[in-house]
Amino acid sequence: MNEIMAAQEKFAELIRSEYERIERMKADQEVKDFSKLDKIVVGILPGDGIGPIIMKQALRVLNTLVKEEIAAGKIELREIEGMTIENRAAKLQSLPDEVFEEVKKCDVIIKGPMVTPRAGEPWPNLLSANSLLRRGLELFAAVRPIRIPDKGIDWTFFRENIEGEYIWGNKGIQVNEDLAVDFKVQTKQGSERIARQAFEFARKNGKKNVTIVTKANIVKLVDGNFIKAVRKVGEEYPEIEIQERLVDAMSAKMLDPEFNKGIEVIVLPNLYGDIVTDIAAEHQGGLGTASSSNIGNQYAMFEAIHGTAPFLINHGRGDYADPCSLIRAVGMMLAHIGYGDRKEKLERALDICTVTERKLVVTTDKDGASAAEFTDYLIDTIESL
Ligand code: IPM
Ligand code: MN
Repeated sequence: MNEIMAAQEKFAELIRSEYERIERMKADQEVKDFSKLDKIVVGILPGDGIGPIIMKQALRVLNTLVKEEIAAGKIELREIEGMTIENRAAKLQSLPDEVFEEVKKCDVIIKGPMVTPRAGEPWPNLLSANSLLRRGLELFAAVRPIRIPDKGIDWTFFRENIEGEYIWGNKGIQVNEDLAVDFKVQTKQGSERIARQAFEFARKNGKKNVTIVTKANIVKLVDGNFIKAVRKVGEEYPEIEIQERLVDAMSAKMLDPEFNKGIEVIVLPNLYGDIVTDIAAEHQGGLGTASSSNIGNQYAMFEAIHGTAPFLINHGRGDYADPCSLIRAVGMMLAHIGYGDRKEKLERALDICTVTERKLVVTTDKDGASAAEFTDYLIDTIESL
């Protein structure tokens, strides 16, 4: 009986904290206008493993694309120290306070992959730094583009980035040895704001379809409410058609032209978005080819979606890691702060270097080009455009 009361009390505490978060979401309506800033500060978090190696190359590309703006002081690149697994473990803080203070002084962040320790690894059991940054900066939209031109696929995923299984992820209740309970949480505010991002994107980019992916046949309440919220926001965008897919079928059949008919913009809850975007990235050419933006009203963070690649580091092949994911993240960042033309230039150069010309190819083996050699080639190509 005591067990039940203890679990009830913990649950009540969680619900109370959610009321407060909902009030904060209601208050967080103002959107930062980058065109009104004299200077945009880009914070750099290199991360762990191959992170610093590919970040170095991504920054060379960034310096090439906005050389003049940096020289004129319109864009400042600011490296933030201390966000390494060694420092985080020593402090027993996944996102050390002093690092987070520096992060909040920036406008946007470029982030390399970071270690999230798992049980059995020689690090303390820290929380995911990624989740903490997303939550701390209210980065509620993970925007993940996937292009597979020969299959006619040009999709943009809008993954809700804070709620679902993630928001109380480390707050589950171990009632007793036999029984554990985790939670899935969805708020109306959280669902509506991701929906709005998806529809706005669709409208601005001439897309005609928003597809909602859930498991609403089973997860009746939170997925059902998610659909309701998306459809309600969708009423303000009558020119955009809405369709629904179930997440299991979407995972299995996303390449089937009958099944994926009409899909352009996809909006989905957090965990489904995590899994489905990995599958889609594999079809695109591998996790290493994909990048993601994490967008909030005030801040935004741009990253690769792969991990720290300990396998490459342990085999002495870190310098041969593919920097393209983080380089693409740089492109997304530039578009977000108002330099869409530079992103397009970068995309054109990447198409030449990785699809049409391919003078140098990164294989992540020593027989391929190193990250630095590939980036030399890419920068030469950008400068020739
Ligand atoms: C991602 C990652 C993260 C997630 C991890 C690192 C917390 O897999 O960005 O997709 O699960 O969201
Ligand atoms: Mn993931």
